[in-house]
Amino acid sequence: MSDNRKIVYRISSYLPRLGLASLALCLGSGIILVFYYRPMGNVFQNVEEITTLVPFGWFFRQLHYGSGQLFVILMLLHTLDHFLRKRYRIYGFKEWVFLISSLFLCFFVLFTGFVLKGDKGGLFAGSIFMNILQSMPVVGGKIAPLFIVPGKSFFFLPYLYHCFFLPVLIICLIRGHIREWFPGRGFLCIGMSGLFLYALLVRPAPDIPPEAAMAVVQGPWFFLGLQTLLRLFPVLFAGLVIPGLFTACLLLLPLLRRSSPDTSLKGRVARLGENGLHYLLVTALCLYGFLTLRAVL
Ligand code: HEM
Repeated sequence: MSDNRKIVYRISSYLPRLGLASLALCLGSGIILVFYYRPMGNVFQNVEEITTLVPFGWFFRQLHYGSGQLFVILMLLHTLDHFLRKRYRIYGFKEWVFLISSLFLCFFVLFTGFVLKGDKGGLFAGSIFMNILQSMPVVGGKIAPLFIVPGKSFFFLPYLYHCFFLPVLIICLIRGHIREWFPGRGFLCIGMSGLFLYALLVRPAPDIPPEAAMAVVQGPWFFLGLQTLLRLFPVLFAGLVIPGLFTACLLLLPLLRRSSPDTSLKGRVARLGENGLHYLLVTALCLYGFLTLRAVL
């Protein structure tokens, strides 16, 4: 193996291990926060009290935020690494579906965490999410209340999903893929020291009170591209059709794997189809990056 390939291989194997170390810290700090967090009443005030009145509340909030973000970013990079090296060829359809679903669920956990802050941004993101679900033809009105409801219980369902259902579901989905749950002492130490330093030294972005008057409210970083899409197209198209098509193409990839020899017509068509879909997805990802930049600049 050449030196360059060795380095790439090493980085590839470090990503998921550091990810698991971050997940451990995220779950630990989440369990501490859940003792103080109340999803009913004045949620914004409750979160402010956790930050200012609970001993080390600011530290655990920032640790949870940093470890949660790092975990999901590392999972994204790990999946991108598999995708770009066309490793979906070696996975069965079921395993690939589980892995992609767990990545989407990771983003959903981040999203519900953003809503749980109860500030202007959280309320805004939660309302957009509710509108997208309600825009689903026929079933929208029935599906939306399974995730989020307006009024006093606005934060309750996102809270249940964030703190209980989603972490358990993610762990169940990736269970078959993980060879060793313990990431190794070195990775745990690096993850812990880096994230503890981050929580101690980096000040959290100020939470905006829900009643503050603001013309533009930005969602979490991975939601910005979708926000731009929502400005350009109708909700149903931007919020459901485009993401749905992208997900369907991604899930279909392992099915196009070449089962027939390359030289046969069937084999050549399958290879063409797989390559076409692969580069279509790469283009879609680049476009999403561009839409994200458009939202910030
Ligand atoms: C995959 C696992 C998880 C990820 C990626 C994650 C991520 C996040 C993020 C990014 C936030 C927003 C923090 C902020 O902006 O200040 C958040 C909030 C929160 N999380 Fe999690 N979390 C996870 C699991 C958990 C678990 C298992 C619990 C509890 C058992 C929990 C409890 C909370 C609570 C109570 C909040 C709201 C308080 C706050 O905003 O600081 N989380 N989470």
